[in-house]
Amino acid sequence: MDLSEILKSGLKAIESANDETALKSAEREFLGKEGLLMAELKNLKNLPDEEKRVKGPELNQAKITLETTLKNRLQAIELQAINQKLENDWVDPTLPGDTFTKGHTHPLYQIQEEVEQIFQEMGFRIIDGPEVETEFYNFESLNVPAHHPARDMQDTFFIDAPADPEEGRLVLRTQTSPNQVRAMREYGVPLRMIVPGRVFRNEATDASHEHTFDQVEGFLVDKDISIAHLKGVMEEFLMRLFKKPTRVRFRPGYFPFVEPGMELDMSCPFCNEQGCRVCKKTGWIEFMGCGMVHPHVLKSGGVNPEEYQGWAFGFGLTRLVMMRTGINDIRYLSGGDLRIYEQF
Ligand code: FA5
Repeated sequence: MDLSEILKSGLKAIESANDETALKSAEREFLGKEGLLMAELKNLKNLPDEEKRVKGPELNQAKITLETTLKNRLQAIELQAINQKLENDWVDPTLPGDTFTKGHTHPLYQIQEEVEQIFQEMGFRIIDGPEVETEFYNFESLNVPAHHPARDMQDTFFIDAPADPEEGRLVLRTQTSPNQVRAMREYGVPLRMIVPGRVFRNEATDASHEHTFDQVEGFLVDKDISIAHLKGVMEEFLMRLFKKPTRVRFRPGYFPFVEPGMELDMSCPFCNEQGCRVCKKTGWIEFMGCGMVHPHVLKSGGVNPEEYQGWAFGFGLTRLVMMRTGINDIRYLSGGDLRIYEQF
């Protein structure tokens, strides 16, 4: 083949190569040891000097041209591969990202944490108790014997299991109060504690009554304790919780495990006692049951009522959550509808 033709078809092969494999084979065909150009070079020594002088530099030039073109083509192919990769991996940073929803605590537990924090700061310990109780702790130890009509105030779910000869049947606790006696037996006195927890009642449910709800029990036993301490503690607690001065007032109320027994109302923090939807236009909100611990309860806890006195209270945490969040049907709080919880 004529040198100019070799050069022409060599350049064509190199330039039309679309990938490294095609380029390598073009290189082998024209520049390789067995290639066309090498054959011409090998043949050079057989030519007369005259022709050698002309063809030598021509061959050299053709070799350089092919090598340079090959190098440039290789670079172009590599660049093309890089660009292709960039295009495949391309990300548009201006597109809206994937949103990940982050879970958070139920409004009930948000408020429970606040309540615990406030009482802890006032020196109360946080105590937990069993949700499945015995009749003894839920009733007898709290001065509610089997025949007492007060048992009907809190209709109970019984567990279908043999009764214990000493402590009676197993019940789902109807209140957090059984922990008054449990705690005195476990920790002795003086004692300052709160017990937040879930309680259960065989209740016909409506917008303000659930069969499962949360209470917070408060209990303080020491020497020379009076209702004045309860008033002070509750005013302080409510002020810290609602972040404004709050007044409290007592009304007589009946609970077998306190004497005297009272209901505590708080001044409405939502309307500053002007009357609103939350306080039903009265300026006051019924907040909790409370009273001085009955001597029977102290004795059940192994404490001498001649030496120690104390007070106890119990409020509905679930109702507090409704008040704070404006959720007006208690059943929403356990309904599992995330659209409600996500707002808080
Ligand atoms: C008691 O359970 C007493 N153990 C409270 C107590 C403790 C009094 C210590 C004296 C000393 P009561 O049954 O009223 O009391 O319930 C207390 C609170 O639980 C109520 O004020 C109310 O906020 C809440 N509560 C009662 N029943 C329900 C219900 N079905 N659904 C939601 N909350 C309820």
